[in-house]
This record gives sequence, C-alpha cells and structure tokens, in this order.
Amino acid sequence: MLSGKTPYRMGNFSHSAGGTKHGGTMRGLITTLVGIFFGFFLGLSFPMLSSTKFNLSSSLLPIPDLSKYDNQQTRPLTQIAPVSGCNSSSTEAPKVNDASKTLVRSNPRGAERLPPGIIAAESDFYLRRLWGDPNEDLTFRQRYLVTFTVGYNQRKNIDTVVKKFSENFTILLFHYDGRTTEWDEYEWSKQAIHVSVPKQTKWWYAKRFLHPDIVAPYEYIFIWDEDLGVEHFDAEEYLKLVRKYGLEISQPGLEPDRKLNWLMTKRINGSEVHKEVEEPPGRCRDPHLPPCAAFVEIMAPVFSREAWRCVWHLLQNDLVHGWGFDLALRKCVEPAHEKIGVVDAQWVVHQSFPSLGNQGESQNGVAPWQGVRDRCGKEWAMFNSRLTNAEVAQQRANGG
Ligand SMILES: *[C@@H]1O[C@H](CO)[C@@H](O)[C@H](O)[C@H]1NC(C)=O
Ligand SMILES: *[C@@H]1O[C@H](CO)[C@@H](O)[C@H](O)[C@H]1NC(C)=O
Ligand SMILES: *[C@@H]1O[C@H](CO)[C@@H](O)[C@H](O)[C@H]1NC(C)=O
Repeated sequence: MLSGKTPYRMGNFSHSAGGTKHGGTMRGLITTLVGIFFGFFLGLSFPMLSSTKFNLSSSLLPIPDLSKYDNQQTRPLTQIAPVSGCNSSSTEAPKVNDASKTLVRSNPRGAERLPPGIIAAESDFYLRRLWGDPNEDLTFRQRYLVTFTVGYNQRKNIDTVVKKFSENFTILLFHYDGRTTEWDEYEWSKQAIHVSVPKQTKWWYAKRFLHPDIVAPYEYIFIWDEDLGVEHFDAEEYLKLVRKYGLEISQPGLEPDRKLNWLMTKRINGSEVHKEVEEPPGRCRDPHLPPCAAFVEIMAPVFSREAWRCVWHLLQNDLVHGWGFDLALRKCVEPAHEKIGVVDAQWVVHQSFPSLGNQGESQNGVAPWQGVRDRCGKEWAMFNSRLTNAEVAQQRANGG
C-alpha cells in the first residue's frame, strides 16, 4: 500500500524521473559530496582492497558518474552497502593472478566471478518506496500475477475483470495503444504495473517482460486477453480448484460462444473441472492428446510457476500470435492429460471485441484483419515445423 503510491511505468522512466526536477541540482550536489566522502572513507578503511586489482574498489568510488544520478540519491549508497556489510575474511583479496580459481561455476551464467552470497538471481513486481529502510518497504507481497493486454477502449471491461482478482494479485497491464496515464481514473491502476509498447501482442510482451526469474515469487500467473466476461468468475475460487485438481496449466471454461473452436475449452455445466472431452469420432487419434485433452487455448491461460518456467522457453521471439502454441503446452508438463485442464465452476464468456486484430496494416490490398489472420496461420506452420525438427534432432542426438 505504501509503495503503491509510486506507479511504476516501464515505458515512462524518463518522465517520472523528470517529475522531481525541483531541488534536483541541490540534491545532486549533496549526493556528490556524500559520495566523495564515502569513497574517501572507504579508501581509507579498506586500503588492502583498493590496492589490489580486485575491481570492487574502483567501482566503489562513484565520483565521476554521480552527476548522472542527479535525483537518485540512493545510488551511491546501494553501491556501497554490500561492502560495508562484509567482514574482513570475505574482503581478503583472492589471488588475483589466478582468476580461474575465483570463478564459481554454480553461479548463474555470466555471474561466475561474483561471490554467491551477493547474487540476486530473481526479481518481482513489488513496488518500493524511495525512502526509509528497504527492509520495511514491502508490507505485503502478492502471491499471484495477472496480466492483461489492453487498449484504452476496453477499460470498462478490464475494470470489471480486475475486481474479480483479490488483493493477492499483482496486476500488470501491457498497453498496445500507448495510452497509460488515462487508466489512473481507476484507483487500482495507481498500484498496477504498466508496460507500454505500441501494437504488440500478448505473447510478445510475455516473452519480454515475464521472464521466469522476474516473476519468480508468483505461484500462479494469469496471462489474459482483454475481452473476457467474468460475471461467473472469481480468481481465488478458481485457484482453489486448480490446487484441488493439481492443474499446472488451466483456463476457465468458456461459455458458449457462437464459434467455439474446441470442445475441450467449453464449460461443462455442473462440473468443477474437466481434463478431457470426446470430440466427434476421428478427431483425436489419442484420447489423452489434443484436441481431446492436454491443452487449453491462448486467450485465458493460467500457469503454475513451474509450468511457466518451461512455457517461457517454448515461446518463440518471432511468433507473436501464439497460434498452435497452445497445442504444444503439453510438452511442459507430465503427464499432460492430468496436469492440464479446464475449470468449469469458474467460467468466463469470450466476448470477442475487435481489438488488436484490427491493428494490422493494409498490404497489397489485403485488409488489415486478413493480414493478421494470414500471419497467424503462417506462424502456426512455422512453430510446428520448428518443434518437429527440434524433436527429430534431439532423438538423433540421443541415438534414437
Ligand atoms: C564473515 O565470514 C565468515 C566466514 O567466512 C562467515 O561465516 C560469516 O557469516 C561472515 N559474516 C558476515 C556478517 O558476512
Ligand atoms: C489472500 O491470501 C491469503 C493467504 O492465502 C488468504 O488467507 C486470503 O483469504 C486471500 N484473500 C482473498 C480475498 O481471498
Ligand atoms: C446449468 O445447469 C443448471 C441445472 O441443471 C441450470 O439451471 C442452468 O440454467 C444451466 N446453466 C447454463 C448456463 O446452461
């Protein structure tokens, strides 16, 4: 709540930094002086350190760069803090001539030079204050994450949907139309994370902003479209059923809809959860495989933290619509027909507002929506052939 007062907009960094211009110069000056003092002081108290080639010491003297950090007075302190907490045994310089001995192979890739104790390999979307004791910033940590890919025109529906998600959710909006500040008419928006990049799709954002190490604290991750009707849906109740039935990948049942693609995702009245359906004869070569089981659609999927860690890697950078991707989700959980399912008791209505589909560009006389649709099909084919090739290559490598 405290931290919520500082909305955090990835698309807007420079803007918010500019907001504190008044007094910035003065503060910058003080910061510089404090920085110099600290640097000097450290130099004195760790003469050993600064006389070795142990790179730390030079990065601790923040003098030349400070002007850049005009109004971020905490910067020099955060640079210093880890070292001032070190005890003498840990600051004893390693034998610098033999660098290979100081590499810690079990560290994350690229960070092998660091002492393991300092590595922060994971992050989160928790908002922090700019002042006070960092240990006291977070009075509450949300356990779940929900993201929506939105345009401002859909704000009324999103406002309704967000109310079905309790305070246990971090809300993250991906804006495809560049309109972010307007959302602050809603109180919840001031504590949400806003990422604004024009005309991208949900899966483009997901690949770039939902790296598993970034969303690591969230037990479940909802990656939803903006056009879902949630009158019969409650997120906490939904998760109770997900846990009860051990679903790693799920979606709410869809209430009929003129053009429902698959029976699997259609809500079954009176059921809590279903994991397989019977399609007309001939459609499923195996009752445990799609489209009879082991998949959910891309409009409203929910992933467990572990499943998302795999699915993120399956996502391709250049395939942005995600067609066909849903049919491959099963590669990430085992056995897929038991861990993927549809929650019938908490269901949604797919309203199919026109949205991103209309934001394509007219090319060679083809209507924008047709261009998008064609690309969807192309991506599906590309994804399939990549996956097939990768599996064949793997089998060969294993001597299969
Ligand atoms: C100081 O170093 C010792 C031995 O390396 C370690 O056990 C201890 O936790 C360290 N203390 C601090 C405050 O880093
Ligand atoms: C939020 O999570 C806590 C801890 O699991 C739970 O007790 C509480 O009921 C949840 N809030 C809502 C509104 O369900
Ligand atoms: C679901 O089933 C109940 C009881 O059989 C019925 O009253 C209700 O109208 C059904 N709902 C829908 C949306 O079909």
